Amino acid sequence: MIYTFENAREEHLNDIVRIWHEGWIDAHAAIAPAELTNMRTIESLETRANDRLDLIRVMMLDGQVAAFHMIKNDELDQFFVDRAYRGKGTARALMADVESVFSENNIKTAWLACAIGNERAAAFYRKAGWHFMRVMLLPVHVESGSFILDIWRFEKQIV
Ligand SMILES: CC(C)(COP(=O)(O)OP(=O)(O)OC[C@H]1O[C@@H](n2cnc3c(N)ncnc32)[C@H](O)[C@@H]1OP(=O)(O)O)[C@@H](O)C(=O)NCCC(=O)NCCS
Repeated sequence: MIYTFENAREEHLNDIVRIWHEGWIDAHAAIAPAELTNMRTIESLETRANDRLDLIRVMMLDGQVAAFHMIKNDELDQFFVDRAYRGKGTARALMADVESVFSENNIKTAWLACAIGNERAAAFYRKAGWHFMRVMLLPVHVESGSFILDIWRFEKQIV
């Protein structure tokens, strides 16, 4: 598998939004409150991706965006692998890039929020050395402000 990582640019935007939207539906539609699902439109994700392009890195594989992550300070804010590349070790490579960004930014303890019931992501995070800490209330970003819900908090010590 030959892949590279790049800081996201405008030309990646359509792929990022598609992967984000499909991944959100796959992982969350069945477990998230309907009110939140209704707000996770393609347009809302496009606005967020566009506004935070500087926080996103893409994994390029076969000339395509195969996955992306978004990091905000000490938080792994978004972590998505294209449907075609799941279950193939892509997520592990993506996580290595996440950790190198934390490391470069001198972050010692990183954290992430995983939707309660997103078992596949939780299984992957555990495999990647992240530790479940606790359930916590988190205001998640929505266009009208924020939406508060319980999430699983995971943390990892970055070496
Ligand atoms: C979460 C994600 C990045 C993980 O990447 P991946 O390539 O699917 O990860 P892997 O296949 O290496 O690992 C997932 C593990 O969950 C297991 N798994 C698969 N489906 C599962 C399910 N429905 N329930 C529980 N575990 C499941 C896999 O078997 C695997 O474990 P194994 O290696 O011991 O067999 C990817 O699935 C994805 O992008 N999902 C949609 C978006 C998402 O949920 N992002 C995270 C938001 S917090």
